[in-house]
Amino acid sequence: MLNLLRFIPKPPSQTRSTLLDNTANWWRQAAVYQIYPRSFADSNADSLGDLPGVASRVDYLRDLGIDAVWLSPFYPSALADGGYDVDDYRNVDPRLGTLADFDAMTAALHTAGIKVIVDIVPNHSSNLHQWFREALASPKGSAARDRYIFRDGVGEHGELPPADWESVFGGPSWSPVGDGQWYLHLFAPEQPDFNWENPQVREDFLKTLRFWSDRGVDGFRIDVAHALAKNVPHADLPSKAQLDAHPWDGTHPLWDRDEVHQIYTAWREVFNSYTPPRIAVAESWSNAQRRPAYARSLGQAFNFDLLKADFTADDFRSIITVNLEQAALAGSSTTWVYSNHDVIRHATRYALVPTGDPDAARNWLLDGASAHAVDPALGLRRARAATLLQLALPGSAYLYQGEELGLPEVSQIDDEQRQDPTFFRNPGVDLGRDGCRVPLPWEPAGTSLGFGAAGAHLPQPAEFAQLSVAAQDGVPGSTLSLYRDALALRRELQTDESLSWLPSAPGVLAFSRPNGWISITNFNAPPQQLPSTPLLTSGPLADGKLPAATTAWLRG
Ligand code: GLC
Repeated sequence: MLNLLRFIPKPPSQTRSTLLDNTANWWRQAAVYQIYPRSFADSNADSLGDLPGVASRVDYLRDLGIDAVWLSPFYPSALADGGYDVDDYRNVDPRLGTLADFDAMTAALHTAGIKVIVDIVPNHSSNLHQWFREALASPKGSAARDRYIFRDGVGEHGELPPADWESVFGGPSWSPVGDGQWYLHLFAPEQPDFNWENPQVREDFLKTLRFWSDRGVDGFRIDVAHALAKNVPHADLPSKAQLDAHPWDGTHPLWDRDEVHQIYTAWREVFNSYTPPRIAVAESWSNAQRRPAYARSLGQAFNFDLLKADFTADDFRSIITVNLEQAALAGSSTTWVYSNHDVIRHATRYALVPTGDPDAARNWLLDGASAHAVDPALGLRRARAATLLQLALPGSAYLYQGEELGLPEVSQIDDEQRQDPTFFRNPGVDLGRDGCRVPLPWEPAGTSLGFGAAGAHLPQPAEFAQLSVAAQDGVPGSTLSLYRDALALRRELQTDESLSWLPSAPGVLAFSRPNGWISITNFNAPPQQLPSTPLLTSGPLADGKLPAATTAWLRG
């Protein structure tokens, strides 16, 4: 039984007007909604979502109650990696619209009080980027090749790769260009890595940051922010085994090197030249202790710890404690996230046992996950409980499109319909990330469930119909209603960035915010007596008590 009977004052008047205004700190406790534009809404019947599609759904976003959107890449791209292979950093893919469409969308979002964050992909361009084409057309040692990481191959004619490194997506990370040289790609071969020691590369990205800032974007999400600085010698490269054994302590040849922060210090100068200063969030899969350095210059660093955690009170408690401390060290706020375009959706992850390994979880779906106790109803209950907990935490909450509908991961996609390079580069082993990128269902019936008139570019399962926006709109107890209610209440209750843990039974986590806003999550304990009538719960109470896999918000 919880010991929560104490006086809880009403929150001070620190509400939307003070927390979400145009000051430099608007982002610190923002609810940010990630849009994967090609799967959001298709306005021109080509099966791909687009920017006018986003603009047409601004009312939906406003009513949802989020503070900002983060758009995954919408730049020209041959889609070798879902748009993270960028041909031109300062333009819009013609299939997704034009720069004028971008401006119109941004204006509509701003009018609705929603900030705009765009994705910057600085580690690599696409192989169709003008600079890479120039590099291929230029000889060894040329200035054009110096913008990327070309090295001589091994063997008499350079016919062997400079090293046996493996790319993140599987397969080798060096590809030959036919003249004895090879180029580095930490990801797909269509994603050649930039050489960040080259001043033109540095200058060009400053230009890109200014280009979008001038167009009114409020912030940036920095793709693989921990990979830009590298130490790749011209001969005698370390082996894969040596790389694997090397600690991530700031000196690893490829990841999370200390010098990367020089780059971001220069970016910060650009951000600070705007009013309010632009914000950036680093996608850096580094350990918690090395995150503050990214947050110090960029603003925030993603913490993926809850995303990788088992659904247990103890794990959540220690992760929350550590991340609040680490963010404070940087003078930043932390970032909570359960789902994004790279990982199995959390409603499905939480239906599996164990719950805390997103990569393995995706692949359990390969064999129907029979060995992993799939319980979709429990998965969704836990996902809703986790979200309500997340939205009560100090810091920003990053939400991924479709989680507000309780969408599951889609596992039934035919091989020939799949798009993700991680699937093709790891045949039979990795299902890839398409299952969380299936177009959103807006209506319970009709072509592609209202996504667009020409159908969806990845197949929507039948169960998406009952999960569609229209099917859940205004329905008490629906996941969409829960998100709307929670986001609205969060605005009302939002307060200073700290929490105090409250005594609770094993398997239960309870905390209060400085204004007395309380969140209690029963992970897996017997039903808990609540000290007062809750303001909101993530699911029904059982005989007035808080059952397992349920969160309640309270106020005195
Ligand atoms: C990031 C993106 C992912 C992409 C990769 C390479 O991790 O989130 O989608 O495939 O970088 O750009």
